[in-house]
Amino acid sequence: MNNNKTKVAVLVSGGGTNLQAILDAEKTGIIKSGEVVLVVSNKTGAFALERAAKAGVKGVTITRKAAGSQEAFEEQLTKTLEETGIQLIVLAGFMSILSPEFIKRWDRKIINVHPSLIPSFCGQGFYGLKVHEAALAKGVKVSGATVHYVNEIPDGGEIIFQKAVRVYPNDTPEKLQLRIMKQAEWKLLPAAVEKLSAEIISK
Ligand code: GAR
Repeated sequence: MNNNKTKVAVLVSGGGTNLQAILDAEKTGIIKSGEVVLVVSNKTGAFALERAAKAGVKGVTITRKAAGSQEAFEEQLTKTLEETGIQLIVLAGFMSILSPEFIKRWDRKIINVHPSLIPSFCGQGFYGLKVHEAALAKGVKVSGATVHYVNEIPDGGEIIFQKAVRVYPNDTPEKLQLRIMKQAEWKLLPAAVEKLSAEIISK
């Protein structure tokens, strides 16, 4: 662990391709001011945890079900984050909404990646493939991804980076999801982690 780097936690729920993009960006030097020291999954057996283990990063599972309530879940999460000295929290495919109390504790220290151009196709109920299904149903010709600060409004925090991606006539939600990941999410998220990590260590 390098003390001159911002300590980053990545919160995940599933496959973890965005986590992988961050881990890869650390290796290639795109991220030089931050280090992922903790991965927390709120789903048992998430493949993202295998990615963390492979990279030698501590992985922890905390589920609301096992904790008993959202409050208890967030208490355990806060304890784990504080014990590890976390300075920046990245939601990367984290499919759970955090309480205003939790978010306030980490004001401007939590960022999220969302697979659309906010304010389109975002907020409660818009996650994963559902976002791309809604975009295709609307017939948009352009979609994309957004990295934003997390505040108490779901997908409502200040936008950090955004990138547009073309939608093609024969797109399926899966095809569009992959194009948006490749062209936007996997680039924007590591770039945002570096930007914020650099800001945090320079303070
Ligand atoms: C990503 O497309 C991410 O933007 C989206 O879920 C996918 C997770 O993939 N997140 C949301 O929809 C949050 N509202 P990953 O686990 O492979 O990174």
